[in-house]
Amino acid sequence: KTIYLSEYQVPDFLVDHVDLRFELFEDGARVHSTLTVRRNAEARGRAEQLELNGDSLTLESVHLDGRELQAGEYEDRGELLVVPAVPDTFELQVVTWLQPHKNTRLEGLYKSSGMFCTQCEAQGFRCITFFPDRPDVMARYRTRIEADKSAYPILLSNGNDVERGDLDGGRHFVTWEDPFPKPSYLFALVAGDLVEQKDSFTTMSGRDIDLRIYIEPRNVEKTAHAMDSLKRAMRWDEEVYGREYDLDIFMIVAVDDFNMGAMENKGLNIFNSSCVLARPESETDMAFQRIESIVAHEYFHNWSGNRVTCRDWFQLSLKEGFTVFRDSQFSADMGSPTVNRIENATLLRTAQFAEDAGPMAHPVRPSSYMEITNFYTLTIYEKGAAVVRMIHTLLGPEMFRQGSDLYFGRHDGQAVTTDDFVKAMEDASGRDLGQFRLWYEQAGTPELTVEDEYDRAAQVYRLTVRQSIPDTPGQTDKKPQHIPFALGLLDTEGNDIPLTLAGESGPGDTTRVLELTEREHVFEFTGVASQPVPSLLRDFSAPVRVNYPWNRDQLMFLMSHDSDGFNRWDAGQRLAVDVIREVAGHAETDIDPRLINASRTLLNDREADQALVAKMLQLPSEAYLIELSEEADVQTIHHARERVLKMLATALRDDLMACYQRQQPAERYQVTPEDVASRSLRNMTLAWLLDLGDEQARDMALEQFRSATNMTDQSGALRALVNSPFEEERSHALDTFYQQWHKDPQVVEQWFSIQASSPVSGDLAAVRRLLEHEAFDWKNPNKIRHVVGAFAGQNLVHFHEQDGSGYEFLADTIRRLDDSNPQIAARLTAPLTRWRKFAHVYSEGMRKALESVRDKDGLSRDVYEVVHKSLAD
Ligand code: ARG
Ligand code: ZN
Repeated sequence: KTIYLSEYQVPDFLVDHVDLRFELFEDGARVHSTLTVRRNAEARGRAEQLELNGDSLTLESVHLDGRELQAGEYEDRGELLVVPAVPDTFELQVVTWLQPHKNTRLEGLYKSSGMFCTQCEAQGFRCITFFPDRPDVMARYRTRIEADKSAYPILLSNGNDVERGDLDGGRHFVTWEDPFPKPSYLFALVAGDLVEQKDSFTTMSGRDIDLRIYIEPRNVEKTAHAMDSLKRAMRWDEEVYGREYDLDIFMIVAVDDFNMGAMENKGLNIFNSSCVLARPESETDMAFQRIESIVAHEYFHNWSGNRVTCRDWFQLSLKEGFTVFRDSQFSADMGSPTVNRIENATLLRTAQFAEDAGPMAHPVRPSSYMEITNFYTLTIYEKGAAVVRMIHTLLGPEMFRQGSDLYFGRHDGQAVTTDDFVKAMEDASGRDLGQFRLWYEQAGTPELTVEDEYDRAAQVYRLTVRQSIPDTPGQTDKKPQHIPFALGLLDTEGNDIPLTLAGESGPGDTTRVLELTEREHVFEFTGVASQPVPSLLRDFSAPVRVNYPWNRDQLMFLMSHDSDGFNRWDAGQRLAVDVIREVAGHAETDIDPRLINASRTLLNDREADQALVAKMLQLPSEAYLIELSEEADVQTIHHARERVLKMLATALRDDLMACYQRQQPAERYQVTPEDVASRSLRNMTLAWLLDLGDEQARDMALEQFRSATNMTDQSGALRALVNSPFEEERSHALDTFYQQWHKDPQVVEQWFSIQASSPVSGDLAAVRRLLEHEAFDWKNPNKIRHVVGAFAGQNLVHFHEQDGSGYEFLADTIRRLDDSNPQIAARLTAPLTRWRKFAHVYSEGMRKALESVRDKDGLSRDVYEVVHKSLAD
């Protein structure tokens, strides 16, 4: 069944207050829910019956205004509880029985390592009790939790704890009250034997907030980084957005079994352990950075998501796009803005563009869906953030801030739409964003084709820019969009030229944001003394593709001279893509010495920003190369890229050695851009050298593995060994590592993914062995992601084995998980959905695998939607 945005209607009934009482037991949980309900005056027509959503519930009783309803006075249809005749205002009491210990879907109330926890977004609350489970029904919640006191000393829910006490039989209770009306998806409950780490934060108005992180006892050493990140995020949101925290207490809980990264429940954020726990010895720089941004992301949701929430799930990007934009601004402020920009753009260009070009393509504000959990996508999150960024670019930081103030002020306590967001931006700035709204409505990645012409006599440089947007499922003949197109022009010395458009009195800025609104524009720059090299889409000012025929010398020139760090990196990527494509399928072709020279210059450049250097030395990923090709031939792409890598490493061996030696480990571990860059350079140079089978490098790797004092160094050495031809050292290092870390599930996840993603040793047989390993657990999403997800998503050469074995394996896994955890099963399907992108030898097998999933009995709605849309023609 498909749900359409066009069919949205305001709720017939509103709930003002929810009173919950949870009785938690080992064999189940009883939930007493008392709703204070009234008819919605704004609803069109008078609804006869009250309808409440439910999912997998055992209904025990229903009371209306204190009177128990008899069979016939209500109807339990499983997914709906219908009470035929209700007054205009009433109190409804519903008692349900759940079995959290049998809940493998990890939606609603479930158990993870012995503790009770919840995940209600998007529609998990209906797995707890019957309720109008839609975000435009906002209520105040009071929650009483009762459980055995020794097994569950900690009982948490949203808001402030207002009462606690002991009960008979060794049980106790705590009552929580949340003063802010909220949608049901923000409800949360946790009960367990947890350790509490405390800190505090004084807000800009001088209120003291109690900060707490709850973890299992074995993780006590791993909370400092999240706590520091949280305090930085709280301060930053005050300074940059004027947003202050609103409750007296802010809690974070870490759980091991979690479908996603984390969840912004009001006052009680619940995190996947891997997105919150870290210490230098056991987690990598990447984990530290991920944690900082996710902790901030969930905290920022308190305003962009909770205080102002979504009217319906089509508006998901209202909170996610804006919040991702906010967390990326924060990360840029905390670290290196250029590297941050490169990482955002890489994710967009590699994975979001692929989504936009595939069968699941949808606009930032979709107009229909079958299963909403399938729409927690890169388009909603990352493209949604890019769209907010463009508004920021068009308005400028001051106007954007005024728009944001107006948005929060105007809609505080409301459930609103992406259109309301844009309207606030328009009203505050006076800018017309009418055409800009198409970014929310049209799917697909706009493509810009740029041509230029230089008139030396007139000193005029003319740029012609054409935009087109490809067709996507259900959408053709798209209108041109409003695109902020930032650019600069470099003169023959490599300096930026002040830009003056014909008719202007110059000279203007060196970077200009041109606004594209038509299918074609011609821009004339005057007073250009010599043929310039264009630097287009500076700082990745819009999520679009740019075609312009730079030659290799121009790319080299941009790599070393462009004042825009992002475009220096991008020029290097374009050069590398070009070279890899040239050697693809031509074993006798040598690589262009210009790529070697450019890499050598970078390796030896000690003046330049090392964080940017480290990024620039990375070759474009296989996934990106596939995204750029028409009928991707994975094996050819893989081997071409490998060959370029080997030829670079061979030519640069001494420079790599020297660069490695220069990167001495810091005295004290810190996650600064400089130190991260140094460790990344160290690991990259090591990996390149080991790829060559260099014995000196092998000894360096073994030494680094042994003496490392942080996980970035240790796992970097391990990964290099695993991807090297040194079989004996590889298996020895893997064993040693496992022995050292087997008690730490997060490190074991790393150990799994290094193997499952290895193009050298991670073939299907090896991956099957990992699934048999004692540490693997089919019930734990992280383990599945780090083995099956890493294999299908990163180990492309083995996943795309031409006999189709990788595809069959993935299909088997999806069918298996479809019963226990449909959300995870649907996510794992993503690599197969791209089948049309691949050459025939691959696409046939991928399609067959999808069909075998389609034909499974009792397919979940989650997987059904993905598979059917992928196979539709
Ligand atoms: N709102 C959460 C976050 O971004 C994600 C929750 C996803 N839940 C889901 N069932 N897909 O930050
Ligand atoms: Zn979010």
